[in-house]
Amino acid sequence: MMTAEEKRILFKKLEAQALVLIEKAGDMDSVYKGVVELLDTNIPYYNWTGFYMIEKDKLVLGHYIGKPTDHTTIEIGQGICGQAAERKETFIVEDVTKEDNYLACSFETASEIVVPIMKGTEVLGEIDIDSDVLGAFDEEDKWLLESIAKMIADKF
Ligand code: SME
Repeated sequence: MMTAEEKRILFKKLEAQALVLIEKAGDMDSVYKGVVELLDTNIPYYNWTGFYMIEKDKLVLGHYIGKPTDHTTIEIGQGICGQAAERKETFIVEDVTKEDNYLACSFETASEIVVPIMKGTEVLGEIDIDSDVLGAFDEEDKWLLESIAKMIADKF
């Protein structure tokens, strides 16, 4: 794992790269694809990195890098993703085996972070990251992903 200092430096760099990538992207599809690639390539403990976007009041799987998942559509309130969309706030789960309302994608997954993409009070979708490392996500991950979520909402 990286030290806190290494993580802060890397995340500042990735935030700047995300801003350029999102500004330059010709359409939203390129935004989602570019962000998933940027995060997955540069952060070793991001083992499943993807987007769920709201379509007809459900979360629908979008671009992702990682193992294929059965959860291509998720109801609001269902699983960590559905709860984050319902509460309109970031969820960090240190140990997914301790969660009752959780949808398993892979046996290797140990922890998860879900960050809603908000336009005002409306949820447009979310960034979902799984890690094989227990307690992988902290305030730095939340800061980076919430910043990227805001850039995406501004472009939407
Ligand atoms: N674990 C999520 C489902 C999506 S997968 O992680 C790709 C959840 O509980 O909502």
